[in-house]
Amino acid sequence: MRAAFALACVAWVGVAWVGVAMADPAAEAGDPERGYRLSTPCASCHDGDGRTRYGLYPRIAGQHYAYLLSALREFRTKERHQAFAFQMWDPVRDLSDQDLRDLAAYYARLPW
Ligand code: HEC
Repeated sequence: MRAAFALACVAWVGVAWVGVAMADPAAEAGDPERGYRLSTPCASCHDGDGRTRYGLYPRIAGQHYAYLLSALREFRTKERHQAFAFQMWDPVRDLSDQDLRDLAAYYARLPW
């Protein structure tokens, strides 16, 4: 009986873990080569290497993939709307989920 309970616990934890892993944006793959090709319009503000020289815009090179992806999604839905965020709305408006993953993968791989 105790063994059966332990087994049930292990199975439950296993299922829960898989659920968490699937919900983790870091587990979703992006293609950095494709992201590079999509990044041309981004360079006007973030510079070609993502190390933004203009001090009022953030550096994005070398940032965590999961963070970049969630930021891009929040600009696309306009959930992120404070201060200068509106400047990000147009650049991501027509991009697909895969485009955002590819861009995030590209910038995450660049040196900080
Ligand atoms: C017109 C200028 C402009 C363009 C073009 C632009 N950005 Fe931005 N970006 C900004 C500004 C300004 C912010 C800061 C927004 C804020 O304060 O929330 C920002 C923020 C970001 C952030 C969040 C950084 C952080 O630390 O939270 C990411 C990621 C990003 N941009 C990626 C991109 C990508 C990818 C593209 C191209 C598809 C792009 N940007 C095009 C101006 C621009």
